[in-house]
Amino acid sequence: MNTPLLEIDNLHVKFARSEDEVHAVNGVSFTVHANETLGIVGESGSGKSVTLMSSIGLLRENGKITSGTAKFQGQDLLKLRPKQLEDIRGRDIGVIFQDPMTSLNPIMRIGDQIMEAMLAHQYCTRKEAYERTLQLMHEIGIPDPKTRMKNYPHEFSGGMRQRIMIAIALACEPQLLIADEPTTALDVTVQMQILALLQELRHRRGMSVVMVTHDFGVATNFCDKIIVMYGGQIMEAARTDDFIRQSVHPYSIGLKRSIIEVGHRGKAIVPIPGAAKAITESPCSCPFAPRCTFASERCHREMPMLRDFEKDHQIACHHAEEVVALAN
Ligand SMILES: Nc1ncnc2c1ncn2[C@@H]1O[C@H](COP(=O)(O)OP(=O)(O)O)[C@@H](O)[C@H]1O
Ligand code: SF4
Ligand SMILES: [Mg+2]
Repeated sequence: MNTPLLEIDNLHVKFARSEDEVHAVNGVSFTVHANETLGIVGESGSGKSVTLMSSIGLLRENGKITSGTAKFQGQDLLKLRPKQLEDIRGRDIGVIFQDPMTSLNPIMRIGDQIMEAMLAHQYCTRKEAYERTLQLMHEIGIPDPKTRMKNYPHEFSGGMRQRIMIAIALACEPQLLIADEPTTALDVTVQMQILALLQELRHRRGMSVVMVTHDFGVATNFCDKIIVMYGGQIMEAARTDDFIRQSVHPYSIGLKRSIIEVGHRGKAIVPIPGAAKAITESPCSCPFAPRCTFASERCHREMPMLRDFEKDHQIACHHAEEVVALAN
């Protein structure tokens, strides 16, 4: 296969806290090719956002990348200066965050915000940016763009504001779109509309997408391949069809049981008992062991490495073979 568009290799990220440190990302590796959509799934606190945000230079001040590479088109983003990264972000890599209200500027007309995304990267002239803003607003389904571009963010609904965020992220025609829980703040109907819009835009533009979500149903509906994260590590990675057919990791199996798929909402949820905790020491056991019904003594003293289970299907579990025999 060709060089991946994005290639994260053995990424480790730590945060300093007053009393201790959090090992938020512990050796994460994955690739995204052109025209591919990757879903990163996992409960809150599993390291999904930190993995992506640290790769594109949006790490909080108390955070540090202790090792790894994050190559975009072969170039290691972690070695770039902030200004160089800023140029790539927004131009070659579009980013959509969870909460459009905090990401949009409340005192700037939305037309100007979309235009600014292009002008800041010298993507086109002011006149072209104006025309393109009208076209983008039309494309994301905002009626009467000429009038609406003069409005401020508070004059739009939550779903419309998220559409505007998408327009900003797509303004410079990025090759890669990173969407961190793009629909979490929205109600179910609007969520489905936004996902349908993203799907259509990605097909039309031939763009790659990395989407972080804690909703397994959203990932299986939208993505070509899925990574399941827990405790800052990848627990399972597979193509979506393989995943739906057979998930192998005890955590994925639990997550799968607890989904309410888009379109099948309202089914009973069977949550995985227990909760994820921040990891404050260098990991030397399976992070899921305290909650895993399959855990053995080995799981508490040895961290499982991500290994091939089948073609294009990796797993980090000492007992995957036994789990599969029992659970599927
Ligand atoms: N600025 C920070 N300082 C300390 N810990 C942090 C910081 N940001 C994230 N973390 C911790 O890193 C871990 C992973 O967080 P995150 O990637 O945001 O999770 P997710 O996106 O999967 O919900 C969590 O334990 C979280 O508490
Ligand atoms: S390695 Fe052990 S504790 Fe971890 S998921 Fe597998 S069986 Fe459970
Ligand atoms: Mg997050």
